[in-house]
Amino acid sequence: MASGSYFFSTILLFSFVTMAFSDSLSPFYYQRVCPQALPTIRRIVFNAVRQECRMGASLLRLHFHDCFVNGCDASILLDSTSTIDSEKNSLANDNSARGFEVIDRIKSAVDNVCNGPVVSCADILAVAARDSVFALGGPSWTVQLGRRDSTTASRTDADNNLPSPFMDLRALIDNFSKQGLDVKDLVALSGGHTLGLAQCRTFRDRIYKETNIDQGFAAQRQATCPQVGGNSTLAPLDPSPAYFDTRYFGNLVMNKGLLHSDQVLFNGGQTDNLVNTYSQNIRVFANDFAQSMIKMGNIKPLTGNNGQIRVNCRNVN
Ligand code: HEM
Ligand SMILES: *[C@@H]1O[C@H](CO)[C@@H](O)[C@H](O)[C@H]1NC(C)=O
Ligand SMILES: *[C@@H]1O[C@H](CO)[C@@H](O)[C@H](O)[C@H]1NC(C)=O
Repeated sequence: MASGSYFFSTILLFSFVTMAFSDSLSPFYYQRVCPQALPTIRRIVFNAVRQECRMGASLLRLHFHDCFVNGCDASILLDSTSTIDSEKNSLANDNSARGFEVIDRIKSAVDNVCNGPVVSCADILAVAARDSVFALGGPSWTVQLGRRDSTTASRTDADNNLPSPFMDLRALIDNFSKQGLDVKDLVALSGGHTLGLAQCRTFRDRIYKETNIDQGFAAQRQATCPQVGGNSTLAPLDPSPAYFDTRYFGNLVMNKGLLHSDQVLFNGGQTDNLVNTYSQNIRVFANDFAQSMIKMGNIKPLTGNNGQIRVNCRNVN
């Protein structure tokens, strides 16, 4: 008994020491140094989403596009310079990624309330994504904190790592698995498309050329997405783009997925069952989504003395 508790307290001490000195993130990272950091982020996200619902979707997507390119290190926020080829110009982000001004606003408010740059841009992206989902009726979760910001960015890495809407299920599974995310993460996180809008150029081939599509839905989308021109005309990714619900999955079951990469999740393959489950059960979807967001948020963070805490999210210090 005595040796048993000694054994366990040794393990406890050991894990405390490794936690303090290893590369792990912690939900309490800013608790002592700046307790107002998280409430400040939340307030600005809520205000931005109240002004424009879509901003919640855009902020969620920024975190995803950050994490898939060399980890969640705010590389997506860096503007081009003579030495930085901005990820903002990559195929998936160019004329598409948005919300950068909101991140700037959060950063200056947080640095103000914290009396200096102690909160990283990468952590701001992770918290803003969580708060955006919550603001639009989705689940909340505990965000791991302590990521540091990159001093580099790579447009090429963004082109090679951000999935395209024209991919098939096999490629999506492969690309997610390269990030340490499994098939369930792929389906749950694709549920992010319960929020937000997409441009005509991303779903034109689907609504004109594909056969696994509801005919009424195709006609409805064709009305605002012509075969030639209108590349940037917007359509909702699900019928309720400002509300976190299961309708994205319900749509897939009815062959009303907007993107090719959406409908492949329900097209006779291995993910059909999970799509069916999520379409019928918001609690299962919301819970899995939250878990997968935490997992995605933990992709290759910079910690310790790696990277830096940027003063301006758009520039290296
Ligand atoms: C599975 C692979 C994925 C592909 C191929 C994909 C592709 C796309 C495309 C093409 C758009 C429309 C962009 C535009 O037209 O400007 C979009 C929008 C969006 N995506 Fe994804 N996406 C994927 C996964 C995800 C994930 C994992 C999330 C978040 C968890 C996410 C969140 C969003 C959101 C919220 C929007 C709407 C953004 C807005 O309205 O500003 N996507 N996605
Ligand atoms: C995704 O995986 C496929 C292989 O299935 C590969 O050809 C492609 O380059 C990958 N793309 C991205 C963006 O990771
Ligand atoms: C519209 O998008 C298509 C497909 O991405 C592209 O080939 C074409 O050049 C674009 N047209 C314009 C006017 O940007």
